[in-house]
Amino acid sequence: MKLLLLGANGQLGQALLQQLQQQQPFQYLALSRSQLDITDLNAVATVMAQYRPDVVINCAAYTAVDNAEQQAAACIAVNATAVGHLAEFCRQCNSLLLQFSTDYVFNGRNQKAYTEQDIPAPLNVYGHSKLQAEQVIQASCSKYVILRTSWLFSAFGHNFYRTMLKLAQRGQIIQVVNDQFGCPTYAGDLAAVVLQLLQRYQQQGSLAYGIYHLAGSPAVSWYQFAEAIFAAHQLKVNLQAINSASWPTLAARPANSVLECNKFCATFAIAVPQWQARLQQLASGDA
Ligand SMILES: NC(=O)c1ccc[n+]([C@@H]2O[C@H](COP(=O)([O-])OP(=O)(O)OC[C@H]3O[C@@H](n4cnc5c(N)ncnc54)[C@H](OP(=O)(O)O)[C@@H]3O)[C@@H](O)[C@H]2O)c1
Repeated sequence: MKLLLLGANGQLGQALLQQLQQQQPFQYLALSRSQLDITDLNAVATVMAQYRPDVVINCAAYTAVDNAEQQAAACIAVNATAVGHLAEFCRQCNSLLLQFSTDYVFNGRNQKAYTEQDIPAPLNVYGHSKLQAEQVIQASCSKYVILRTSWLFSAFGHNFYRTMLKLAQRGQIIQVVNDQFGCPTYAGDLAAVVLQLLQRYQQQGSLAYGIYHLAGSPAVSWYQFAEAIFAAHQLKVNLQAINSASWPTLAARPANSVLECNKFCATFAIAVPQWQARLQQLASGDA
């Protein structure tokens, strides 16, 4: 089975690539943005025609949530328009499309965790662009799995975990919002689940296609996540809990973006990843 991994230099792309290299279960072509810009329609068409992948794993995305508010066109070009073309190429080539979406498709006003039945209503441009991608894939592809995930962290790329460790080195007060709740997800766990799904796809020739929530457990606030990061690294920092109102950002963010993952777990008999254990392993260099 041949895999085409796009956005291979991003956080999730690198986590997947690391596991593909270690396990070598599949033939794959991994392309970073400099090797394939997914907004370049001709270039994508050429790669699809020449490589003819059985599966396209799209880790390429515009993920700068605040910048997106001022660069909406650039964000939509990558996250929605390019994904629409990708979905069409996948349909033409009979390739399975694996796409990642976000908890930020929701407005956060639910009192409980969000299920796949809840109606998305994004608060920001990034969330809108990712929702548009979900819709174009559902409209044009029959073989797709969309995994909505959240709060990715790892030793790779830009993420909250690495930002907190960098801030700790400065020795200043660290203020973190305590009124936004979500599910931290270790990128390596998500990558491992993706490989499990692909193994099943290879064995069975099909999957339970659709849209699923898959994020780590338990849900916490960003402040609680920061506390856990510093505790795992045994760092003494001056951490202060603040409200979102006192930390204005360009993009509005949902107060509650906790994802309920029962549909995924029941369909695939795969347990939700436990992020606290992974955090400990990361801190001790075992992840
Ligand atoms: N990070 C999170 O907390 C989070 C939460 C929920 C969902 N997700 C979703 O999970 C997926 C993976 O996220 P991530 O954290 O791995 O993001 P990331 O670290 O920002 O990686 C995205 C990658 O896409 C590349 N890229 C951007 N524009 C491109 C283009 N036009 N053509 C090809 N590649 C392009 C980026 O290249 P450059 O590095 O050169 O910009 C980067 O390597 C995304 O779909 C994201 O929306 C992420």
